[in-house]
Amino acid sequence: MEQLLQQIEAYKQEIGSIQPDGADALEAYRIKFLGTKGIVKSLFAEMKNVPADRKKEFGQVLNEFKQLAEAKYEQWKSHGDSAHASAGPAIDLSLPGDPLPLGTHHPITLVRNQIVHIFGRLGFSVEEGPEIEDDWHNFTALNLPENHPARDMQDTFYIHQNPDWLLRTHTSSVQARVMERQKPPIRIICPGRVYRNETISARAHCFFHQTEGLYVDENVSFADLKQTLYFFVQEMFGKDVKVRFRPSYFPFTEPSAEMDINCRICGGSGCSVCKHTGWVEILGSGMVHPKMLENFGIDSNKYTGFAFGMGVERICQLKYRVNDLRLYSQNDVRFLRQFTGAV
Ligand code: DAH
Repeated sequence: MEQLLQQIEAYKQEIGSIQPDGADALEAYRIKFLGTKGIVKSLFAEMKNVPADRKKEFGQVLNEFKQLAEAKYEQWKSHGDSAHASAGPAIDLSLPGDPLPLGTHHPITLVRNQIVHIFGRLGFSVEEGPEIEDDWHNFTALNLPENHPARDMQDTFYIHQNPDWLLRTHTSSVQARVMERQKPPIRIICPGRVYRNETISARAHCFFHQTEGLYVDENVSFADLKQTLYFFVQEMFGKDVKVRFRPSYFPFTEPSAEMDINCRICGGSGCSVCKHTGWVEILGSGMVHPKMLENFGIDSNKYTGFAFGMGVERICQLKYRVNDLRLYSQNDVRFLRQFTGAV
């Protein structure tokens, strides 16, 4: 009995002095002390040799020893687990980092920036105006008085009547705002969002984007208009682009013309975008109506000007083959991601 107690004391010290060191050493410890043929088991087997009056005492000592051996095992094991967790998986500093998904410019922004850039090279500077407009700047000042039939060309969202406030139907309103405060020479480009009361479909939307251009100075001619716009489409679509001007009507220009380019989708052979004509209209233009100049106190005998307004979505459609106007405002990342890296 005394021998056994001494032996247990020695094992306790051994356990106390053991330093946890790896999974193999832990397993060796488990087999040695807690295994089926281990020390704890063999000590319990000694119970039968202990005199009856000391069995209880021996049992207690033995149970404490067993608990100590088990506690040591659990402590070692959990220490090993956490050491393992914090050490690994080992960080390899030479690995490339997780890629950050790059954001993209919206295709409308891309095209807007391209338009601004191209005209910027010709000396046009950017002007912006409010999307909520009054009747004067959106219509009347542009030679579109009340009850003028041409007002029906654009279905307007009115938000207040008398005085009339509306969502601007075109960026031509910015022309009016600039001429009101600035004297010629004026050379501006006005990108922005416009609104019309249209049923939303692949081909129409209740909001879209335009870019207006205005050039007023002495001796500005229709030849300047044509050459400026010709330069623009060549820069935007490439040197092989073909253009044609068709006579048209806008109340704020006289004469007026619409400009078509040869269809970039089918190359001119005919498709649904060009309605099988090979040509696509991209803008309206003309020489600024003298009455409009006079509306702003600009002497129409001294100054002439040209103006144009183009649809940004249309240019985007021709450039990037976007066939449904609704895609622009649905925020579908599968659509937007296709413009990553585009300039
Ligand atoms: N404002 C016209 C529209 O929205 C486009 C336009 C035509 C603008 C001729 C102009 C212009 O400046 O001269 O349909």
